[in-house]
Amino acid sequence: MLMAFGLRFTWFEPLLTLFLFLAVVKKGNAGITSSFVRSQWQSFDIPLDNKVFAIPNGYNAPQQVKGMVMMINEALSVHITQGDYDGKAVIISWVTPDEPGLSKVQYGTSENKYEFSADGTVTNYTFYNYKSGYIHHCLVDGLEYDTKYYYKIGVGGSSREFWFQTPPKIDPDSPFTFGIIGDLGQTYNSLSTLEHYMQSGGQTVLFVGDLSYADRYQYNDVGIRWDSWGRFIERSAAYQPWIWSAGNHEIEYMPDVGEVLPFKSYLHRFSTPYLASGSNNPLWYSS
Ligand SMILES: *[C@@H]1O[C@H](CO)[C@@H](O)[C@H](O)[C@H]1NC(C)=O
Ligand SMILES: [Fe+2]
Repeated sequence: MLMAFGLRFTWFEPLLTLFLFLAVVKKGNAGITSSFVRSQWQSFDIPLDNKVFAIPNGYNAPQQVKGMVMMINEALSVHITQGDYDGKAVIISWVTPDEPGLSKVQYGTSENKYEFSADGTVTNYTFYNYKSGYIHHCLVDGLEYDTKYYYKIGVGGSSREFWFQTPPKIDPDSPFTFGIIGDLGQTYNSLSTLEHYMQSGGQTVLFVGDLSYADRYQYNDVGIRWDSWGRFIERSAAYQPWIWSAGNHEIEYMPDVGEVLPFKSYLHRFSTPYLASGSNNPLWYSS
């Protein structure tokens, strides 16, 4: 259920409501929203073998085959979020499936030239019998405003490169376009929402809860659907901050499979700069 802004969607909540609108904060243009309304018809989860869950952009590396000499341990499900209160830092997160590897991000302001590096932390968790990959979170701070940064994760043949743009200096007249997305899930409607958002030119997503809807699944499929959702949003979330808050679908209180720690998957996978923002709760960034 989406509770932000006092909106209630209980009537069509079972249809995996997702909505999106764009807020364009520009001189003389504040408050203009997109007219996009997603289909109200029920849509189903995209099967796991669909290419939307594959690693986007030029992923040609062979799947890992036992006994192969080469270790394929690419960073998957890469996403970034704002890393401080001011917009001069990001937290970069990713998953390496087979071994921890380095929790290092190399970055700089020109492509293929990474002058700086930052070290992060790695965590992992289980959910029922599912074992997560190694989940990395790396704070990259001391950035300049309004600057494009290129970053690289991993080494050698399995490294991957991305970029992001920092926001302009804080000012009432700074133009900035952000999207608000909630209840996204991983259905065919989710895909049309995500594609629409990406075409709209939004620069940062405020995510108002209910991310993957992995809690519709049971047993090991919960973790598997968190992994697929991470790969699903990477096409946007690796290139611009998605600022997180949790919804009821992140609770995943499932005593029947021995999982009683609320927000376990969410807290391991998504970080927020909650301390920098003065929040006392890692579930959300506050301002
Ligand atoms: C995390 O990974 C380590 C190293 O592979 C492993 O020994 C440990 O059991 C894992 N922890 C959990 C909670 O899965
Ligand atoms: Fe919801």
